[in-house]
Amino acid sequence: MPVQNLAMASDQDRRSSIIEDEGSITSAVLAAMGDTPSPRLREIMAAFVRHMHAFAREVRLTEEEFELGVDFLNRIGQATHDRHNEGILFSDAVGFSTLVCLLNNGQNGATETASALLGPFWRMNSPRTENGGSIVRSETPGPALFASCRITDPQGRPIAGVEADVWQASPVGLYENQDDGQADMNLRGKFTTDADGRFSFRSVKPAGYPVPTHGPVGELLKAQRRHPYRPAHLHVLAYKPGFKTLITQVFVDDDQYLGTDVVFGVTRHLIGRYERHDEERPSAADVVGPWYSLDYTFVMEPGEAKLPTPPIK
Ligand code: BEZ
Ligand code: FE
Repeated sequence: MPVQNLAMASDQDRRSSIIEDEGSITSAVLAAMGDTPSPRLREIMAAFVRHMHAFAREVRLTEEEFELGVDFLNRIGQATHDRHNEGILFSDAVGFSTLVCLLNNGQNGATETASALLGPFWRMNSPRTENGGSIVRSETPGPALFASCRITDPQGRPIAGVEADVWQASPVGLYENQDDGQADMNLRGKFTTDADGRFSFRSVKPAGYPVPTHGPVGELLKAQRRHPYRPAHLHVLAYKPGFKTLITQVFVDDDQYLGTDVVFGVTRHLIGRYERHDEERPSAADVVGPWYSLDYTFVMEPGEAKLPTPPIK
């Protein structure tokens, strides 16, 4: 054997990449990744490999199950496009998004938090809307909702100049990007808090809706005998330099799915009081029948203002 080849062989031996048996594969993979220059990538991938290998050993994964799993992941990718994000949906449906949210908020998971998962439907560039304005941009069923919101710091002092992005599904159960029957950006709007930290808007009372079930996540829910519903909610993303971006949801207090949200987003803190009114609303003569009001205060913590990557365009 030429001297050069002998040298290569001994390098490989030192890395132990000739696999003796099932028990030696994990350490071989960890050793092969050991020179990764980025310490964070090294840490994340080492933990990922350890846990993946432990998972396969724990369940004694069969080759058929492995193929099924790879096919499932591939189909998650294939189902994702500009208007739908199946990857986020999968992460949501197995509680991973909420876990990451709770780990990174409320003093790194130590205390209750006002944050909730982003979900797959936030769009950048929702229309700027004046305080008090309506986010109903095309005919939308459902009782009127008048929301009065305030944003404060942890000491209760108002924060002026916060950009508050609001989005919700129509009571037919779809976000506008899922539904050709709604105007572009229907039920989405971006507000700026006034000197007293307030913003307000008109909408319709949110209704519960099923998450999209046309893809592999829907198949999984069905196989697990789980319903696909989210309790009714409004989404808010509050952004101002100097404060940690607050991504949250405000749930409707009388919703039947509050205790069984398919994506595990409900914490007690996030249940709002949507109050029913049967009298006429003086400032809105066009309101017929009962209408609802919501008063809610959001608390932003000092920190870094960063926007997430929008899951859809
Ligand atoms: C949402 O609330 O928009 C949502 C969150 C997770 C999965 C699907 C939808
Ligand atoms: Fe939602």
